[in-house]
Amino acid sequence: MSSNSPQPVPRPASETSPRRPGTRPHPICRVSDLPPGERKIVEVRRRSIGVFNVHGDYYALRSLCPHQGAPLCRGTITGTARSTNPGEIIWERDGQILRCPWHGWEFDIATGRSVFNPHRLRVRTYDVTVEQPAQEEEDPSVESFEVTVEDGWVVLHA
Ligand code: FES
Repeated sequence: MSSNSPQPVPRPASETSPRRPGTRPHPICRVSDLPPGERKIVEVRRRSIGVFNVHGDYYALRSLCPHQGAPLCRGTITGTARSTNPGEIIWERDGQILRCPWHGWEFDIATGRSVFNPHRLRVRTYDVTVEQPAQEEEDPSVESFEVTVEDGWVVLHA
């Protein structure tokens, strides 16, 4: 593909999978621009939303802490400690927990649920998909070459 070729755009998510009612697809970035352990914080429909790559899976959370309204998605990505016996502490779920930058409340990035009170406290989550660029229609009068697209788009549904 030459550098003068138009950038392929992702297919609308509605063509590939149903999403929550009332949401629309928002292409965020190329997959290669959001490697594992990283996040992108975007403004969509006047809401700040963090899109995360957790070990190759994509999740999105509203960047608004339910405690006192901090920009949650700017917090530290970490894991959590669990004690099974007195004096025994296990570090687990590394890279799956988000710690609020203001007072340290922690949330599961995949579910939005609070680590310390998962049944009562949670952050709004959004669906994220990876969409392949739409194939351009072939013009039989133009010589064409096979192209493999391996770098899809990360699409937020909000
Ligand atoms: S505002 Fe997030 S823990 Fe207080």
